[in-house]
Amino acid sequence: MSAGNAGKQRAAEAALAHVVRGSIVGVGTGSTVNFFIDGLGRMRDAIRGAVSSSSASTARLEALGIEVMDLNHTGTLDLYVDGADEATRDRYLVKGGGAALTREKIVAAASKQFVCIVDDSKLVPVLGRFPLPIEVIPMARSYVAREIVARGGQPVWREHCVTDNGNQILDVHGFEILDPPSLERDLNQIAGVVTVGLFAQRPADLLIVGSGNGVTVI
Ligand code: A5P
Repeated sequence: MSAGNAGKQRAAEAALAHVVRGSIVGVGTGSTVNFFIDGLGRMRDAIRGAVSSSSASTARLEALGIEVMDLNHTGTLDLYVDGADEATRDRYLVKGGGAALTREKIVAAASKQFVCIVDDSKLVPVLGRFPLPIEVIPMARSYVAREIVARGGQPVWREHCVTDNGNQILDVHGFEILDPPSLERDLNQIAGVVTVGLFAQRPADLLIVGSGNGVTVI
């Protein structure tokens, strides 16, 4: 197993300790979360089910015999576990590399605790090296792109990508994100923006960083 995958697996295994017995678990999307889902499969008799943030995670959960529930029927969740594309020590995140950012933000918002799991390659001093994903309503794509250029970013349309919600993604290069909550607030105001892949107004509560040597909890 590569060092990156070992770190992802270690972080995912550490997150399993936060699962409340008899609860419904919020589950994110991506290769790191896939290790978490595999662990949940081993303890599926100890949980009631899961709320999933993507069709990919739903398929993996169901294949392991875990019931996937509708967030409208579950109420507030105790725990949401998800990965990230970049993370800071302030637990601010860039997410959306897998295009699942909107549902991820919804499940994170509806959960008491958000535990983010990453390998150590994701930890950065300043967000922005990873292009910031923004989900947009298709007819607003060019308008939103112009608004982003006016703010100093370089948007690139993620062609052939349609989100689970039928929308499109702009990946924004060139932002040095020194004040993540304020940029998130500003970009959220642009008409046609569905979700900004910055998780700063609701950051992770706990960041578990896995490496070749072990895990660090921030
Ligand atoms: C999905 O849209 C993303 O937010 C993922 O959480 C993120 O891309 C992390 O994915 P990996 O765990 O595969 O790196």
